[in-house]
Amino acid sequence: MTFPSTPSTDHASAVIPAPVPLASLVNRAQVGFEDRFGRSPRWIAAAPGRVNVIGEHTDYNDGFVLPMAIQRYVVIAADRPQPTSRPMPIRLSSSAFEQAEWISLDHTSHKQLAPWARYVLGVLVGCRDAGMEAGALDMLVDSNVPLGGGLSSSAALEVATATLVEAVTGRSMPPVDKALLCQQAEHRFAGVPCGIMDQFSSVFGRPDHLMLLDCRTAEITPVPLNDPQVQVLIINTNVKHELTGGEYAERRDQCERVAKALGVHSLRDATLDLLVDRSAALQPVLVRRARHVIGEIERTRQAAQAIAAGDWGRTGQLMDASHASLRDDYEVSCRELDLLVELAGQQPPGAVIGSRMTGGGFGGCTVSLVRSEHLEAVAHAIHDGYRNQTGIEPSLFTTRPAAGAHIVRG
Ligand code: GLA
Repeated sequence: MTFPSTPSTDHASAVIPAPVPLASLVNRAQVGFEDRFGRSPRWIAAAPGRVNVIGEHTDYNDGFVLPMAIQRYVVIAADRPQPTSRPMPIRLSSSAFEQAEWISLDHTSHKQLAPWARYVLGVLVGCRDAGMEAGALDMLVDSNVPLGGGLSSSAALEVATATLVEAVTGRSMPPVDKALLCQQAEHRFAGVPCGIMDQFSSVFGRPDHLMLLDCRTAEITPVPLNDPQVQVLIINTNVKHELTGGEYAERRDQCERVAKALGVHSLRDATLDLLVDRSAALQPVLVRRARHVIGEIERTRQAAQAIAAGDWGRTGQLMDASHASLRDDYEVSCRELDLLVELAGQQPPGAVIGSRMTGGGFGGCTVSLVRSEHLEAVAHAIHDGYRNQTGIEPSLFTTRPAAGAHIVRG
């Protein structure tokens, strides 16, 4: 669903809506809880979505990623149920999905639940197994992370749930364990064999910083992104072509097969020279997949250095090369994403620093770094060009790197 827009402020324009402060979303969740359950919530937790600036499909290859948390959050308000309310322990309501679910940790067939509720259940079960049982709860989920847009709305929901459990139990878990628990919930309860990027971004997000995450060691190196002349522009194609999610698992499997054939633990340990050497013995499709991953890991390292040095020319080249590689070698882009990137490339010299698809692919969003003084013109040109050529209305917004998950009340 779309949310009612907030009254315009200084940033508002025809195609870029004004940012909604987290405090407004928290307020909306609180009111939603009161409407639904007839009293004030006792606990409130928030966790952001993320955008990945570069390093795509590298996390499950032990590589590097360079994401940031965005100023879009999942907020969960909760309280203990009133004594007589019902037999089931958890009453879950979502204004974001306009649905309610009753869940029990003994749910043996979580497949009967709406997909979004499975993430919540998965995290609650994971917390219980880790000795942090939340107990009976009334919960209200609100969100302004676009759904299915490749901005990790599911990871934000998982991490918000784990953070809520911390508030409810009065105990905190080590942040790395929390992110891994959420990743496991996605593997087990949503059947998506994702890497660690999304959950780490939502847990560790830091204002004004990207995170260079080494997915082998889980070490994070903060990279400042606070130049007021540079805007992070996210454009949602508003299409989703991946029907079953099987494409992601297939890519992951291909990477594992080619690593094995190259005799390395993961593609992090492979080089382009090694790949070229062995390419005659490999299926061409596997060579292309590995070429993307090996090149992307190196591009991500270089982009972190370029951004830290304010070398925007080099940053843009790396982002553009990343998109081309995802399109041609990894084959996870689509016509709509390519069009947005092409339109970004057609802007006057210097206006757009770089542009690429972000997230898993097959639809969802692009991320572009845009010079502040050109933001309005660029946004309009890409919006109009995309709408004219596809007949689809894209959604645009800008964001600064945001704070990670936290307890708002509790
Ligand atoms: C999805 C997954 C992440 C990562 C990206 C691609 O968002 O959840 O772990 O693999 O795709 O970079």
